[in-house]
Amino acid sequence: MPGFELFGDLERKQVNDVLDNGVLMRYGFDGMRNGHWKAKELETELQNTFQSKHVQLVSSGTAAVSVALASAGVGAGDEVIMPTFTFVASFEAIMMLGAIPVLVDIDDTLGLNPEAVEQAITPNTKAIMVVQMCGSMANMDALQTIAEKHNILLVEDACQAIGGTYNGKPLGSIGDLGCFSFDFVKTITCGEGGAVITNNKDYYLNADHYSDHGHDHVGNDRGAETHPFLGYNFRISELHAAVGLAQVKRLPEFLELQKKNFNILRDALSQIPEVTFRTVPEGGVESCAFLNFFLPDLETTRKVIQAFKTEGVDVCWNYYDNNWHYIREWNHLKDLKSLFPISKEVKEGLSYLKTKTFPKSDHYIGRNISCLIKLSWTEAEVKERASKMVKAIKENI
Ligand SMILES: Cc1ncc(COP(=O)(O)O)c(C=O)c1O
Repeated sequence: MPGFELFGDLERKQVNDVLDNGVLMRYGFDGMRNGHWKAKELETELQNTFQSKHVQLVSSGTAAVSVALASAGVGAGDEVIMPTFTFVASFEAIMMLGAIPVLVDIDDTLGLNPEAVEQAITPNTKAIMVVQMCGSMANMDALQTIAEKHNILLVEDACQAIGGTYNGKPLGSIGDLGCFSFDFVKTITCGEGGAVITNNKDYYLNADHYSDHGHDHVGNDRGAETHPFLGYNFRISELHAAVGLAQVKRLPEFLELQKKNFNILRDALSQIPEVTFRTVPEGGVESCAFLNFFLPDLETTRKVIQAFKTEGVDVCWNYYDNNWHYIREWNHLKDLKSLFPISKEVKEGLSYLKTKTFPKSDHYIGRNISCLIKLSWTEAEVKERASKMVKAIKENI
């Protein structure tokens, strides 16, 4: 997945354009720019890449999720349904707005379980946030149907799924708003950065203003711009956008390499009868950023992870025992450890996490191994990795 692995002259050239003119900010300073508007150019590229009418670049993927929700009016006391398997950014972005994350089970897609989503809807539910984890997707048809039926937003976090598609549409472009991260380990990187995409002009204008202190960006005198509403600073810099501009042009090359390496590993593991793969919903095409497979039980999975370590097979994780991506180890959320007071509504809204268990999610995450696909591996290295993985699994099953 990481775009940073393949990094060179194209990125350097784009960054030098910015350093040469000295304008590191994306807005204003028109006369000094020598015609370089890297953030604007990257937004246009991303409109084509993600087949979306509007793109707003922001400072990170976490900012993208929060800005997307804010732009559609999600705020204090609103409930946002999100999966138990995601990155901590999901609940952070919701809580930043004073809203309440409602965690629900996943299914064998490793994405939101539509039945669990339906059961979690209350009169306070404002949005379903689907997270397209590890390069693939949840059952989007079912989730869209639920969102339409209840007249609630569908927000798509596609930070880990750049390049995946569903019924021919890029992941991220299916919900009302889509979110991307271009941090250092994503398929394309800006160093740090993110994007909100949408076909809704109002949401886009809200995202544009909200991510820059509420500025309306009308005219070319920043000091004379008005503030239709409150905003904050989630701007991307020209330097970061310049790196992303070089990277996005290389996306087809990166995706091709990912797919090639993914297929070699998948073919090798599919010869082991006890190994099964995550379900990719009909109409879905994975980005191949990760290879995800299931083993028969948690104990075997833990043994195989240990064997991978012994064999020197890196970048493979069982998220059941990992602090990043699964509810089980998010004690700071369950115990509401915050530097500053949290509102009564959010405290009460999250009290269910003290006792709620997620056996269905445990069933999938406990048996899952998720392997990052790197771009810089040679074919010989991937083949060697594949045979070490097969050996480690066979010896521990
Ligand atoms: C699914 C998901 N959402 C959001 C984010 C946040 O992105 P960023 O690191 O750019 O804030 C990440 C980052 O890993 C992620 O994996």
